[in-house]
Amino acid sequence: MYIETLDLKNFRNYETLSLTFDPGTNVFYGDNAQGKTNILESVNVCGTSKSYRSSKDSEMIRFGEDEAHIRMHLQKGGVQRRIDMHLRKNKSKGVAIDGIPIRKAAELLSLVHLVFFSPEDLNIIKRGPGGRRRFLDALLSQMDPYYLHQLSAYQKILLQRNKLLKDLPGNRSLEATLDVWDEQLITYGCYLINSRSRMIQELEMIVRERHSALTNGREQIVLQYEPNAEETAFRTKLWDAREKDKKFRQTTTGPHRDDFKVIVSGIDLRHYGSQGQQRSAALSLKLAEISLIEQKIHEKPILLLDDVLSELDSRRQSDLLKTIGSVQTFLTCTGMDDLRERNFPIDRVFHVEAGHAEEAEEI
Ligand SMILES: Nc1ncnc2c1ncn2[C@@H]1O[C@H](COP(=O)(O)OP(=O)(O)OP(=O)(O)O)[C@@H](O)[C@H]1O
Ligand SMILES: [Mg+2]
Repeated sequence: MYIETLDLKNFRNYETLSLTFDPGTNVFYGDNAQGKTNILESVNVCGTSKSYRSSKDSEMIRFGEDEAHIRMHLQKGGVQRRIDMHLRKNKSKGVAIDGIPIRKAAELLSLVHLVFFSPEDLNIIKRGPGGRRRFLDALLSQMDPYYLHQLSAYQKILLQRNKLLKDLPGNRSLEATLDVWDEQLITYGCYLINSRSRMIQELEMIVRERHSALTNGREQIVLQYEPNAEETAFRTKLWDAREKDKKFRQTTTGPHRDDFKVIVSGIDLRHYGSQGQQRSAALSLKLAEISLIEQKIHEKPILLLDDVLSELDSRRQSDLLKTIGSVQTFLTCTGMDDLRERNFPIDRVFHVEAGHAEEAEEI
């Protein structure tokens, strides 16, 4: 699949913007703070309904305006599709596919497959478990629209259970309600644990191959799911933790505390990996994400690369290059020299300056 056109109105620093893309590699270059990332963000929001940068729609609306619009035409399976997104200050966003309003983000996620990659992602192994859970959740939500539904249901119940734990000291009669929340937490939670466990196994098969190629067979990578509670033990563990939960007034057990371990040559990279090992493994994970989407959905995802090239050494750049050749790619950078030197396959170049993007004649 690939994106043909993007139209923005009052999105971030763009008053209006109309771009036509190449099905291959599209490069956005320009100085800092000109609006390169904003373009990638608009594509990402339009394809997933969420921004990786801000949780509030209002922040994406151009200063002084009340609404923003994003329109994207894409080609999928030989058919042209259209997505319209309407962001509003204090209301939820409106989304339509081919002119028909949709109510669930899952519909969007099953239409568009994006892999977003920023320097932050290179830190996924180094940083805390939250980023690793987000990585898993985003991947699972693309593969299985039902997962997204179960995840939001779990998060809602978790919030309610935590609120109840806070209110409990003033109102003991609420304790009985805790059982009701627990039952739901277990139902939704078990779905998450089960899906994550299977996903990590599938991901591991791909990552293992890729990582071995990346390191010329020098390093073996192993992924290991670390559920806070195993599926079969969740009920007991939640029950056992009840007194503790009441004391700390929050839910201390469940998949919202999950993590996964990345082991290379027997060492846990989260704690003992070198900076370079952590980055290589992060890159392998990201590349595996692309392969997995291709395998499962039989559709090539679109790759969004924000500023990552400058963060990678030439070995890793060329590994990324091999992947870029086969999927539509949007890439930002401040200068073109690196790309030219490495003979990156560039199909279209846009120069971005102060909220304007012009197609550059010369590549
Ligand atoms: N809601 C908004 N309305 C208007 N302008 C905005 C809005 N949000 C952000 N901006 C502006 O967008 C610019 C940043 O754009 P962006 O992050 O895309 O830059 P960039 O070209 O990716 O820069 P860098 O190379 O530093 O990553 C900033 O100048 C910021 O003031
Ligand atoms: Mg940027």
